Amino acid sequence: MKPYVICHMMCSVDGRILTETWGNPKGRSLYEPIGNRYKVKTWMSGRVTMERDFAGKRPLKLKPVHKIIPRVDHVADPGARSFAIAIDKDGKLNWQRGEIEGDHIIAVLSEQVSTEYLVHLQEKGISYIFGGKSELDFSKILNKLNKLFGIKKLMLEGGGGLNASFLRAGLIDELSVLYLPLADGTAGAPSLFDHFPDVRKKASKLRLLSVKKLQYDVLWTRYKVQ
Ligand SMILES: NC(=O)c1ccc[n+]([C@@H]2O[C@H](COP(=O)([O-])OP(=O)(O)OC[C@H]3O[C@@H](n4cnc5c(N)ncnc54)[C@H](OP(=O)(O)O)[C@@H]3O)[C@@H](O)[C@H]2O)c1
Repeated sequence: MKPYVICHMMCSVDGRILTETWGNPKGRSLYEPIGNRYKVKTWMSGRVTMERDFAGKRPLKLKPVHKIIPRVDHVADPGARSFAIAIDKDGKLNWQRGEIEGDHIIAVLSEQVSTEYLVHLQEKGISYIFGGKSELDFSKILNKLNKLFGIKKLMLEGGGGLNASFLRAGLIDELSVLYLPLADGTAGAPSLFDHFPDVRKKASKLRLLSVKKLQYDVLWTRYKVQ
């Protein structure tokens, strides 16, 4: 069974998501509390976002390993109830520990990942699942997350590359966007959904569920993906 996927993001009025040039607008502080209203205990981000905000610096120094580890999914903590999921096909993230603020980390990998990296994850107490031989199949990944960890709902929290992969595969159920009162205007900056240049795709239709004006002139819009 596929978990229900809510894509929760914060952006400028022109849909840009890179916050560096925004100064420190007060509305930014609303991102987490509004996300918490969904009471969902699982969140997922792409490798770039995880590296920027949560994992250690690269390069990652891996110890040589002289054994074979089969490419089978690994549940490191069967008692975990809240999860941080990292999409890291090639095993690049330099994790320091097995959790982010109490959320157990699950790495989503391809089967091409090195044995040394699997040992690194096992030593840090991190769970991992395989999402495909060389490319990732997100539909299969969602079903595994449900089956192995009992995940029924998750918050997809960017960046734009990962969000676009989910949208393209028809896997987003709901979109929750906080529009901050600022215009970014940086050409080529990451946006809510960034399809790879070679992908031509029709626009996805949305149905508006609600619009709320919050503190600091932030607009919270919720859509159902049709
Ligand atoms: N405003 C907000 O609400 C918000 C939320 C989250 C993030 N952000 C910002 O967004 C920026 C990052 O966005 P981003 O789009 O560049 O990066 P991202 O989505 O965080 O990560 C992209 C990476 O994830 C992996 N990935 C994504 N789709 C994949 C697919 N279909 N198959 C295999 N791997 C896939 C790839 O990793 P590999 O390169 O390793 O293959 C890809 O480079 C950050 O600066 C972050 O701060 C903003």
